[in-house]
Amino acid sequence: MPTYNLKINGKSHTVEAAEDTPLLWVLRDHLDMVGTKFGCGIGQCGACTVHVDGSATRSCLLPVSQMDGLSVTTIEGLSEDGSHPVQQAWKEKDVPQCGYCQAGQMMTASAFLSTNPNPTKEEIREAMHGNICRCSSYNRIEEAVELAAS
Ligand code: FES
Repeated sequence: MPTYNLKINGKSHTVEAAEDTPLLWVLRDHLDMVGTKFGCGIGQCGACTVHVDGSATRSCLLPVSQMDGLSVTTIEGLSEDGSHPVQQAWKEKDVPQCGYCQAGQMMTASAFLSTNPNPTKEEIREAMHGNICRCSSYNRIEEAVELAAS
């Protein structure tokens, strides 16, 4: 099996995997970074969102063979101690219910705010609309993104 050198959360990792293995499973099964979640596996739900070179990206669709030279940030790397403004806002607004989708929600929100630090409500809704929450915590998610931006 081929070997890949990945840069994840600022550290280099070498993994052996079939070339079509999605980054999601490399993170979870090879590197034990289980904060990134599997929801649909077809790019529809956003649970698997990570940052690739700073952009929110669905890791279930990204083959490990395409990761060469790219820098990945997962929820584990968003901050070392939960101090990222998005994580703080999520806590303050008590966003999660079951919590399953929230890592993906926060990764989408943090990438969005890095490019649009003062969004309108409509921009927040548009940016977050592809991340599905089965508990329907959408109002709290929007409030938390607004708080993180303030
Ligand atoms: Fe990747 Fe749903 S698991 S978008």
